[in-house]
Amino acid sequence: MTTVVIGGAGYIGSHVVRLLQQRGQNVVVVDDLSTGFAERVGDSELVQLDVTSDGAGERLAEVLRRSGADSVIHFAAHKQVGESVEKPEMYWHDNIGGLAHVLEACALAEVRDVVFSSSAAVYGMPDVDLVTEDLTPQPINPYGATKYVGEWMLADAERAHGMRTVALRYFNVAGAGAPELADTLVMNLVPIILDALDRGAAPVVFGTDYPTPDGTCIRDYVHVVDLADAHVAALEYLRREERPHRVFNVGTGTGSSVLEVIDAVARATGREITPELGQRRAGDPARLVCSTDRIRETLGWSSSKTLDDIVRSAVEARAARD
Ligand code: WQD
Repeated sequence: MTTVVIGGAGYIGSHVVRLLQQRGQNVVVVDDLSTGFAERVGDSELVQLDVTSDGAGERLAEVLRRSGADSVIHFAAHKQVGESVEKPEMYWHDNIGGLAHVLEACALAEVRDVVFSSSAAVYGMPDVDLVTEDLTPQPINPYGATKYVGEWMLADAERAHGMRTVALRYFNVAGAGAPELADTLVMNLVPIILDALDRGAAPVVFGTDYPTPDGTCIRDYVHVVDLADAHVAALEYLRREERPHRVFNVGTGTGSSVLEVIDAVARATGREITPELGQRRAGDPARLVCSTDRIRETLGWSSSKTLDDIVRSAVEARAARD
């Protein structure tokens, strides 16, 4: 059995590649190395290919046939909300076009099982305590829209080609399983705080007047190693006969505020942190916390790591890289 991991040299993809390798599974990585690193894929074969390029469907089909793939995990996509608002065409072209090529390749090479990286960004600004998959997605930016459209494309591919697909809607992913796999982009809260500390700057809290206990936004932070494990559970699920769902949230079910994350960083680094209390950022829901019922009951997956584990692993990975 071979799994082809597209975007397997990236932050989340490489954690999944590592886990599959540790389980003795054969893995081939496809990545254009635009944001990924070849060093992350270890002993697995790495095919450098941009899935958004003209003719990528046929070229990828060739890779799938040659490697005897029976499953594909597709990570390769742009993932920055702000950038998607500035350059929506790029998000439509690359995220949607890339997935179209991946599904075309799977159809051509008769690969049946596909796991797709979706996002909590599909939900937009839900006004509920726990976000269930039954909530109708209402994305509020092009990034979230491309992920929601991607889920429709999977459903179409199931109907047209008899594929079996799962979309995993990630909540806020952070942490690292090994220093070389760590997130090198400074785009999300945990890396942003660590980067600020390194520069001797104060992290900025985006809004302190939200209707939450401490006034700052609440998110569901999930350890990237737990998330990687959810992909393995999804692959196993696709091999089962009974598959009642194709969309799953991946989170912990526990919310943490921005100030609680900053406190966790203070504990992990042993440093006192005095954040700058700033203005709200446009488009931020006050609270976005995952209902984990479906994934626990259907895939048998649940997270095992806490916010402190997440932050500690990010701090340690950063220290090892410096
Ligand atoms: C987390 C919290 C900020 C920076 C985004 C995407 C989502 C997913 C994860 C890919 C928020 C606050 C942040 C800072 C702050 N991406 N914050 N100061 O916006 O919850 O989710 O990334 O799939 O789709 O929308 O993540 O890390 O930007 O912010 O106070 O300097 O930290 O307001 O409450 P977000 P984030």
